[in-house]
Amino acid sequence: MSPEGKALEALLHENRVFNPPQAFVEQANIKSSEVYGFASKDPEAYWAQAAGRLHWFRRWDRVLEWDYPKARWFDGGLLNVSYNCLDRHLDSWRRNKAALIWEGEPGDSCVLTYRDLYREVNKFAAVLRHLGVKRGDRVTLYLPMIPELPIAMLACARIGAVHNVVFGGFSAEALRDRMNDIGTKILITADGGYRKGNIVPLKENADLALEQAPGVEKVIVAKRTGQKINFRQGRDLWWHELMALAPPYSPPEEMEAEDPLFILHTSGTTGKPKGVVHTTGGYLVGTATTAHMVFDLKDEDVYWCTADIGWITGHSYVVYGPLANGATVLIYEGSPEYPRPDRFWQIIAKYGVTIFYTAPTAIRSFMRSGPAHPARHDLSSLRLLGTVGEPINPEAWVWYYNHIGRQRCPIVDTWWQTETGMILISPLPGLTPLKPGSATRPLPGIVADVVDDYGRPVPPGKGGYLVIKQPWPAMMRTIYGDPERYSRQYWQRIPGCYFTGDGARKDADGYIWVLGRVDDVINVSGHRIGTMEVESALVDHQAVAEAAVISRSHAIKGEAIVAFVTIKDGIEPTPELANELKAHVVKKIGALARPEEVFFTAELPKTRSGKIMRRLLRDIAEGRALGDVTTLADPAAVNKLRQAYAAEEG
Ligand code: PRX
Repeated sequence: MSPEGKALEALLHENRVFNPPQAFVEQANIKSSEVYGFASKDPEAYWAQAAGRLHWFRRWDRVLEWDYPKARWFDGGLLNVSYNCLDRHLDSWRRNKAALIWEGEPGDSCVLTYRDLYREVNKFAAVLRHLGVKRGDRVTLYLPMIPELPIAMLACARIGAVHNVVFGGFSAEALRDRMNDIGTKILITADGGYRKGNIVPLKENADLALEQAPGVEKVIVAKRTGQKINFRQGRDLWWHELMALAPPYSPPEEMEAEDPLFILHTSGTTGKPKGVVHTTGGYLVGTATTAHMVFDLKDEDVYWCTADIGWITGHSYVVYGPLANGATVLIYEGSPEYPRPDRFWQIIAKYGVTIFYTAPTAIRSFMRSGPAHPARHDLSSLRLLGTVGEPINPEAWVWYYNHIGRQRCPIVDTWWQTETGMILISPLPGLTPLKPGSATRPLPGIVADVVDDYGRPVPPGKGGYLVIKQPWPAMMRTIYGDPERYSRQYWQRIPGCYFTGDGARKDADGYIWVLGRVDDVINVSGHRIGTMEVESALVDHQAVAEAAVISRSHAIKGEAIVAFVTIKDGIEPTPELANELKAHVVKKIGALARPEEVFFTAELPKTRSGKIMRRLLRDIAEGRALGDVTTLADPAAVNKLRQAYAAEEG
């Protein structure tokens, strides 16, 4: 049975239902299901009402212009994202409310009120303007999880520059490629960041990347770790020195709703990451509204989303969505297990976190280290839990519910993507009965379905492709520099629909159960990695002739990367070489793409036309019976490969 089939089988047996606790229902932001009816009857009126949560310098002329597959939302409207996240809160009692509570990995901490954050953002906006950054210019951010990261993002938004955050775990080469892809003029980085008690040498990586990124004129360096770094006079500038001279106010640009806000790269089915473009108006309407509905945000909350800001989850639900709502956001710099496996629980108790949003992979590793860790801490402030990034197995869901939420907190399992910008499928916590492992139903205003290759809805309980049938405000507008790929990959695969790349099934209650990717994208610990990217990194090594990368299931990470590699004649397939190849992938992409296993083989299973049959490699890696081998050029070879793999594993 295929992995999808297996997952389906498992989920079909999951029939527990958890109703929202009465105490939660009574105080919920959304208490009535009427909102679903309103949104489906008149989606434009619904989204216009949602846009009313924001401050517009000029109201839009039209809610939506839909010229398939091009959408324009709130055209004619003028707004500024930093104004919405900061300035307007200063006119209220919120001015001295904590906007960011920050905790560093070594245990240092600080609080920035809305007024503080406003001042820092204004100053940094002035710094950028002073350096000649203008509306539409691209700025790359390669930073640890320190306050400078959201400050720099909001400062870019303030002056209309387009930010491109590159996750601090990416390698120098990955940073270089992203900077060159979008033509960055300015890079903002730090000397280093803390991770698991070590220093991540960000400036050193950046220096390497800059050797081959000639378009970058200035590098602004925030001082975090204080270790010695190279400093190139004329190019490199210290954050704190620039800020010391900056004026306290820098006016917000009045941006068009459709002006780009940021570009964020994500892995796809080719070797080259895609620069997903998000715009100003629709994106902020979508993230602000969903943060309010799904996380039930209140002024009293201490909200903590553990995602790194380098991913879309951090953009939408650490920075923009919560700040647009005037929320108090907690940011933690480091690893969940430093110095001990209870760091998260200690932080929740320390700050009285009320809403906690994390990834299934983290929950599974907490399960492994055991319930004694959370049990030692006071988690009574928590009132709502969330998950994102990959399907959550019902067992992990129930563990989370019992040991973290202590059976008091609803869990919002939120399905969405870098491309969707905002949560599309999720429970509303005061309303939706929960089924462990299901992201439940599309949010109001979202039309999702499970269909076959021709776009026909499949019957309840059957697997198919997850698609979205109507545009939504925070949808990606294009792939930077490749509009054709945007149309082809997302809108032409299934007629009339946005193709998510995920398999799913719908149950008899209309609940959606996401089964995972159906394309060549692997989801490792909630991070997307394209198999082609890893393959290109491997064949870049001088010993490698050919490589095929697949995933197999992994108890903690969800999926693990397995590389089948043929090496050039005369080279020995040693364990040292396997380690060298793993290190090579880390150098090319980053530690997140390190293969769990590198398996040497004299031959890869191929069809007669020369196509590598990854399906068979997956069967081998999972230890399953081989599927259909009739189209293979050499059916005997694959059996040999299977035996050799099993022998090595055994
Ligand atoms: O396969 C789905 C999975 O993560 C993919 C999107 O990855 P990315 O763009 O990195 O964004 C992750 C965070 C929004 C999806 O195609 N995914 C995300 N959330 C869920 C999920 N799978 C199942 N359940 C979820 N809640």
